[in-house]
Amino acid sequence: MTRTLITGGTVVSPSGRSPFDVLIDGETIAALYAPGQVEAQGVTADRTIDATGKYVIPGGIDVHTHMELPFGGTNASDTFETGTTAAAWGGVTTIVDFAVQNTGGNVIDGLGAWHEKAAGNCAIDYAFHQIVGGVDDESLKAMRYLTEHEGVTSFKLFMAYPGVFYSDDGQILRAMQTAGDIGATIMMHAENGIAIDVLVQQALARGETDPKYHSSTRPSALEGEATSRAIVLAAVAGNIPLYIVHLSASEALAAVAEARDQSRNVFAETCPQYLYLTVEETLAKPDFEGAKWVCSPPIRSAHDTHPHHADMWKGLRSNDLAIVSTDHCPFCFKDQKELGRGDFSKIPNGMGSVEHRMELLYQGVVAGEITLERWVETCCTTPARMFGMYPKKGIIAPGADGDVVVWDPNGHTSIGYEKKHHMNIDHSSWEGYEIDGKVDTVISRGLVVMEDDTFTGRKGHGQFVKRGLSQYLV
Ligand code: URP
Ligand code: ZN
Ligand code: ZN
Repeated sequence: MTRTLITGGTVVSPSGRSPFDVLIDGETIAALYAPGQVEAQGVTADRTIDATGKYVIPGGIDVHTHMELPFGGTNASDTFETGTTAAAWGGVTTIVDFAVQNTGGNVIDGLGAWHEKAAGNCAIDYAFHQIVGGVDDESLKAMRYLTEHEGVTSFKLFMAYPGVFYSDDGQILRAMQTAGDIGATIMMHAENGIAIDVLVQQALARGETDPKYHSSTRPSALEGEATSRAIVLAAVAGNIPLYIVHLSASEALAAVAEARDQSRNVFAETCPQYLYLTVEETLAKPDFEGAKWVCSPPIRSAHDTHPHHADMWKGLRSNDLAIVSTDHCPFCFKDQKELGRGDFSKIPNGMGSVEHRMELLYQGVVAGEITLERWVETCCTTPARMFGMYPKKGIIAPGADGDVVVWDPNGHTSIGYEKKHHMNIDHSSWEGYEIDGKVDTVISRGLVVMEDDTFTGRKGHGQFVKRGLSQYLV
């Protein structure tokens, strides 16, 4: 059992920052020592990591990834091995991926298939949510089974993608009622997919086939409408825990804020793409290059009537947005995004960010959008509490897993395909982004998986995390 001592750093938690030395014994954090105590108590270790001048934070937790997801006639290009390795490069020590029940398929089989994909392949720990693509008596029964026996306690439903994962309002209500019975969380992709499909067909009929029309046919009002509807349905089901995923629109945020003002069990996440990217800089690029940024909800226009980016940052500060995840769902440009040349609706939806979430959000700290503590809270601690993994994950405290990131605020990170890029995608959605800070060292359950700009982890180190219920319910 290796004893690792991290000395001289500043430990950051949601509630503050303090100088502590951190001892990891085997896979677990054993103790925190005030300056001088290691020497005074004669604490010894097999290896010492000097974190002087650096921050020591809990390992990042990305609660929204799609490794190997079959979507749009192809599969997301990161495997559990490549995706979790890239995550480790980015200071992430746990992902929560989505097992899939396709419409007409079986939930338990879907979860089994995801276990097969991930087992023995992950560099960091992993857990699962379950996509329910067909709400019926059998899948409702399976929700109970997964929650009570499998450590899968959150279920994603879709108000978008008719004919793929879509659930109608009646199905949503039934799934929410079941979630209420068992204490599980309903995660909602809140876009009005039926109305969107009409707009998409009308755009294509007008010859509007370029990637930028992906955004104009998914207006923010239809995200706001679906979010409000989901919130109403969750109330009718008995104030069940509702978590809005990948929230991008000011109107949707307003609906979440209103529900939260009424002390409802409504929570939401956003993603880096909705904090930084605009249609004009991405989807509108010529020669089909914009396809790289086709994801849903779409990236919003800088000229929209709502200041979406500013509102997302505000939502992060006010806690109406509790978490930043990535919705990591990468597709290569060649042969994958290209499936939609001449018809934007056939471009596989998703982009890759799992490696860069901690970096991109830290730049928000540098820019004064959020505090250092809020960075840790939204990227590390709240994800653990929201999805039943705290205090094993998300905190630097005795007894917690030895998942630790040493962050160098004086370092620098240049993101780009030829620069820092370890995801299995043939381009970077974050090309040219410069970060005033750097992932220095990453430790996953006591194992150093990244240091000195070298991946030192291994496939198979990552273990499945059985999760409990959300720890935020009122
Ligand atoms: O574009 C996206 N978001 N792709 C992944 C599937 C989803 O809806 O989360
Ligand atoms: Zn979604
Ligand atoms: Zn997603």
